Amino acid sequence: MKATKKDFLYEGKSKQVYSTEDPNRVIVHYKDDATAFNAQKRGTVVDKGEMNNRISTLIFKYLAASGIPTHYIKTLDEREQLVKKVNIVPVEMIVRNYIAGSMAQRLGLEEGTKSPVTIFEICYKKDELSDPLINDHHAVVLGIATYDELKYMYQLSGKINQALTELFLKANLILADFKIEFGKDADGNIILADEVSPDTCRLWDKDTLKKLDKDRFRRDLGEVSEAYHEVYDRLTSVLTN
Ligand code: TMP
Ligand code: ASP
Repeated sequence: MKATKKDFLYEGKSKQVYSTEDPNRVIVHYKDDATAFNAQKRGTVVDKGEMNNRISTLIFKYLAASGIPTHYIKTLDEREQLVKKVNIVPVEMIVRNYIAGSMAQRLGLEEGTKSPVTIFEICYKKDELSDPLINDHHAVVLGIATYDELKYMYQLSGKINQALTELFLKANLILADFKIEFGKDADGNIILADEVSPDTCRLWDKDTLKKLDKDRFRRDLGEVSEAYHEVYDRLTSVLTN
């Protein structure tokens, strides 16, 4: 059955979600809008929606082939994907291989050092509170997840990190850190949802350490759209050769 958009359901900072004829499936539309620092900084990046749709598509397919359960069903056009409808677990899971971003700031560390261990952080998805860093006990008290569900999400995140690190390395990119979100599908299974793209990953060229991700927008580094195109081109050549 051909999936068509029915009702507008929800608008996030970089995507819109629409219902379809099937109550268990929704359509995600990727926008060019970019925000940072809890939407205090706003702008648009030429082609970002298209690039993130394409990059997320490549990555969701690659992760599915690596045994990771995801919400992805199929790509419909240049900006839209059909995905399983999930209830988003309101935590952002951050996985760090290198010291960067808010962790470098919070702990007074220099950005760019490889961490001797993989670092997992969880943040409570709540705009009014600016998505605060929380721990497992907070998540349980907030009713976000049980200890067992958290354990499963950490395990899955570790596997995703391994698979993505390998993939990006083939594209001569260091995966410094990334953010993922999980959702519960109609059967109650926890699966990878949202997107995986240069909006949600820190990607550094392995030789020059040039930033090829949303930090170019956050930090006004210029050549933002070019960076998204570059990541897409590199992933395409790695995944089709
Ligand atoms: P941070 O260092 O700013 O906490 O970001 C860690 C990673 O999470 C980085 O790859 C960017 C990504 N991220 C998001 O995808 N959404 C967000 O809202 C934030 C703050 C970070
Ligand atoms: N997407 C987030 C926001 O606008 C922040 C970020 O990605 O840096 O709030």
